[in-house]
Order: sequence, then structure tokens, then C-alpha cells
Amino acid sequence: MRTDSIIISTPDNLQLAKKIANRLDIKLQEVDMQIFSDGESKIRMNSVSNKKCIIIHSTHPPTDQHLMQLFMILYKCNKEAVRDIYIVCPYLAYSRQDKEFIQGEVVSIDVVGKILQCIGARKLVTFDIHNQDVLSKLPIDTDNISAIPLLADYMKNYTRLNDPLVISPDNGGIDRAKQLANILHINMSSLTKVRDRITGNVQTRYEGNISVSHRDIIIIDDIISTGNSIINAAKILKDLGAEKLFVLCTHALLLEDAVQRLLNAGINDIIATNSTQNNFAKVDLSSTLSEYIDTFITHAHS
Ligand code: R5P
Repeated sequence: MRTDSIIISTPDNLQLAKKIANRLDIKLQEVDMQIFSDGESKIRMNSVSNKKCIIIHSTHPPTDQHLMQLFMILYKCNKEAVRDIYIVCPYLAYSRQDKEFIQGEVVSIDVVGKILQCIGARKLVTFDIHNQDVLSKLPIDTDNISAIPLLADYMKNYTRLNDPLVISPDNGGIDRAKQLANILHINMSSLTKVRDRITGNVQTRYEGNISVSHRDIIIIDDIISTGNSIINAAKILKDLGAEKLFVLCTHALLLEDAVQRLLNAGINDIIATNSTQNNFAKVDLSSTLSEYIDTFITHAHS
């Protein structure tokens, strides 16, 4: 067993953390977590001094609660003067508010980055951050890994599709769709999604010149939250004659009744990673993360 390091995980991230701890032969410490009725978290954890700490903690909904838990764990590690603290945050919340879309809006990802920096974060790794440009603006060293090759592998190994086409639900996701289509050696196209920044209302249309009729479609997005973006896409694609609809995403937040509404909209299957644990987390990030963690703890200085 590698005794110079420890993996720290909260109950929500335990499945992924266990897999990584087993692969790397590193002790896993599950923090003792209590949630009070007002939503506040209480955390207790054993001493981690003299260890390289790898904190595995996603910040999926309830977002603010999970962020606060991350801050608390990091604070505790830092208080014990741990020099090498690595944050593995497969889903990094607030990365969609990456600019002042309307004058006066707070750029929340800047706030998250600043707090993490203040309480001792040096290195963070995440998956498929909403906008890559955020990485250079964060005040801590952040790596972003793409889960698209893993999602593509799943499609190759477990699905049989008829004349498949990759579709991005919006122009912002075109690069993602291109990457997937290249790996699968198939074509891609994109819908156009326009969001009214005041009301939040979304309008989606298809202006592409590749026919979707009688084809199986792979819709790829980074996040499914309410499911509305995918449901709008599904309506359009079905109206245009698409056959089966598969949804691939890295972060399946699937709020409230999103799953039922997605199925009602004609989605045949949802395939997500285990960046957050749920019934659709069919693509495992543990192997990629283990390789990544192995490299940086091996080269760390303490
Ligand atoms: C936004 O541009 C993102 O890439 C996702 O499309 C969006 O966050 C999905 O949210 P929802 O499921 O609520 O439509």
C-alpha cells in the first residue's frame, strides 16, 4: 500500500473514490458527514498530516452544500499543513456563469476560484468544463480532462446504430460534437439554441444541411440539468424524421422529473459518466483519473 498518500471522499462520491483507491492501492478515508435540518454540513475527519491528500468531491446539486463541503475539507487539510493537496472535482459547479452575460451579473466561477485559492487549493482536476476559457482565468492550477473518448468507447462497444449522426444541441457544443464524431468516424451537425438572458426562455431550431431523417441520432452535451435543452432538441429531431435518440453527457444532474420528461420526449437512452452517481452513470472515470493522479503524486515534492 502507498502510505505517503490518502484519498479523502464524501459519501456522495464514495463509489468513484473506492475504485480509484483500489486501483492505486491508496488508503481511502471517508469523511464523517452530517447534514443538519437547515442544510448546513458538519464534517469530521481523521488527521491527514504528512500525507499527500487527494480529495474526491463533485459539486453537483445541492450545489452550494457540496461546494461548502469541499471548502471545509480543503480548509482542514490546509490547517494540518498538508503541502500536497489535490482536488478531484469531476463536476465543477458554477462553470456556466463564466462571464457577465448581462451587465451587473456576478461571474460566479471567479468567486469559486478565489475561495478555493484562499483556503489553500493549488491543483484541481475536472472533466469537460463548460467553457475551456475558464481554465486560464481560475487562480489555481486546473486541468480539464475530456470524457468524450470514454463516451465514444461506450457507444462503439454497447450500441448498434442505424446510419448514425452526432448532433450538438447548441452551437457552443460544436467542438464536443466534432470530437465525438471524429472518434466514431461519422458526421455531425448542430442545432441552434438561443436563450433569452432575462426570461431564461430558450428557442431551438435546426439550420443544418445534413438530413436527420430515418437516422439514429447521438445528441451530445456536457451537462443535462433540467433536461430542457435535450427535450427541445428531441422534439425538433423527431419532427424531422429521426429514428432512435441517444443522449451522451458527461454530467447528468437530472433535476426533479428530468428523466421521465426525457423519456416522454422520445429519448431511447441516456449515457453519462460517474462524475455524479445516478442510474445513467454507465461510463466509469476511475481508470482515467487513477492514471492522472498516479502521475502527479509520483512527481510531487513532499
Ligand atoms: C448549456 O449550454 C449547457 O451546455 C447545457 O446544454 C445545459 O446546461 C443543459 O441544461 P438543461 O438540461 O437545464 O437544459
